[in-house]
Amino acid sequence: MSRTPVVEILKNTESPGAVTVMGWVRTKRDSKAFSFLEINDGSCLSNLQVVADATIPGYEEGVIPARTGASVAITGVVVASQGKGQKWELQAETVTLLGAAEEDYPLQKKGHSMEFLRSIAHLRPRSNLFGAVFRIRSRMAYAIHRFFQERGFFYVHTPVITASDCEGAGEMFRVVTMDGEVVRSGDEEFFGKPSYLTVSGQLEGETFACALSNIYTFGPTFRAENSHTSRHASEFWMIEPEIAFCDLAGDMDLAEEMIKFLVSDALDFCAEDLGFCNQFVDKGLIDRLTLVRDQPFERVTYTEAVELLLASGVTFEYPVAYGLNLQSEHERYLTEKHFKCPTTVYNYPKEIKPFYMRKNDDNRTVAAMDLLVPGIGEIVGGSQREERLEVLRGNLADQGLDESTYDWYVDLRRYGSVPHAGFGLGFERLLMFVTGVANIRDVIPFPRTPGVADF
Ligand code: 4AD
Ligand code: MG
Repeated sequence: MSRTPVVEILKNTESPGAVTVMGWVRTKRDSKAFSFLEINDGSCLSNLQVVADATIPGYEEGVIPARTGASVAITGVVVASQGKGQKWELQAETVTLLGAAEEDYPLQKKGHSMEFLRSIAHLRPRSNLFGAVFRIRSRMAYAIHRFFQERGFFYVHTPVITASDCEGAGEMFRVVTMDGEVVRSGDEEFFGKPSYLTVSGQLEGETFACALSNIYTFGPTFRAENSHTSRHASEFWMIEPEIAFCDLAGDMDLAEEMIKFLVSDALDFCAEDLGFCNQFVDKGLIDRLTLVRDQPFERVTYTEAVELLLASGVTFEYPVAYGLNLQSEHERYLTEKHFKCPTTVYNYPKEIKPFYMRKNDDNRTVAAMDLLVPGIGEIVGGSQREERLEVLRGNLADQGLDESTYDWYVDLRRYGSVPHAGFGLGFERLLMFVTGVANIRDVIPFPRTPGVADF
C-alpha cells in the first residue's frame, strides 16, 4: 500500500499529478453530479478536499456509503482548487471504502465538550484539536532530545520500578505480585523488599551525571497524590537533566534556555497547529509564546516572592507566610499579575524541600528553584544537590529517612563528590503552556487521575 500524506500534497507549489491518498472522511456533501469529501489523514491539521464525480467507477460502493468517520483510499489528480480556502484539491478517479463508519460515529461535525471527548479518548485524536495537540506533543518530545543532544547531554534510561522515594513525600504506587487475590508480601516480595513506581529518575540520574557529567532522562513518572486539579496527573512524563560541575545559577540558566528553545521550536515547526489553538483554545496564545521566546525571564528569591505576595493586597484562598509552600494561586499571581512573564523563584526554606537539596550558608534555605509560567504556575522544579557527605547524612536523619535505603546515593558523596544540579520539567505542563489547553487530561493520550484509568 502506498500513499501520499496530505501534508505533502498541500505543501506543493506545483501539482504533483496523480496521487493516492488514504485517510478518514471528516465530512461529505453529495449532489446529483458529484460529491465533495474532506479527507484527513492526521499528517497535518488541514483536510484535503476531494471532488468525486458521480460517473467515476465504484462511485456507488466507494463514495455513497463513505460517511463521516469512514476510512477511504482515493486515487486521483491534484488540481488547483476553484473553491475558496484551499490551494489544491483532488479530482478523484477511484474511491475505495476501506472501513465504513456506523451512523452513530461520535465525532460528528458539531462541537463537543472536552469532558465528552475524554470519554472517547480512543477517537478524540481524530478531532482537530486533539490532532493538533498530539502533533505538538510529538514535536516537543523531539525538540527536547534536540536541545539536550545538541548541548552534549547523554540520554539515560532510569528505572520505572524503584525502591527509593526520591521526593520523600510518600506518594508512591506500590508494585506487587499476586497469588490469586492475595498480595505476596514479606519473604514472598518479588524483589525481596517493597518496590514502587518511580516518582522521579533524579537519584539514579545523579549517578550517571557523576560519571558522564551531563545527562538527561525522559520517561514516565507516577505519583499517588490525591490531587483533583487541572495540572496534576497520576502518570505523567518528566524530563530530568542532571549536570555535574554546576551550581544553582547554572541550573536556572539551563531551565530558562530550555523553555525558550522549546517555545521557539514550537513557533517554528508547529505553526498551523498553534494557529488552530490560538483561534479555538486561547486567543492570546501566539502573542504570549512570542513574548516568552523574545523577552528575558524574571528571578526572585522565595523570601522576596513572599514579600511581594504579602504586599499585593490580594486575598488568596491559601495563606501566605514565610515557611509555607507557594500554592498555584500564589505562583500564578507572581507570573501573571506581578511580573507578567515566566519567573524563577529560588532559595526556598529547607523545611519544605526534599533531603537532597543543597543547604545554603544561611542554614535556613536550600538551593532550590521553581520556574513558574503564566496560566499554570510551576512547570520546572529543581535544585543544586547536597554534595557534602556529612550534610547529606544529616538531612536524611532530619527527615526521618533510612540511610540504608539510600546508601548507593550517599556513596556518590564518598567517591569523588562534585557540585551538581538538575531539574525536572513536567512534559504535560509544558504542553499545556505551549498549546493553551487548560487541563492536563487533554494533553496526554490516556490520562490517569484518581479514580480514572480507562483505556
Ligand atoms: O517539582 P518536582 O516534584 O521535582 C522533582 O521530581 C525533582 N526530582 C526534579 C529534579 O530535580 N530532577 O517535579 C518536577 C516537575 C514539576 O515542576 C511539574 O512540572 C511536574 O514535574 N509534575 C507533575 N506534572 C503532572 N502531574 C503531577 N502530579 C506532577 N508532579 C510534578
Ligand atoms: Mg516541585
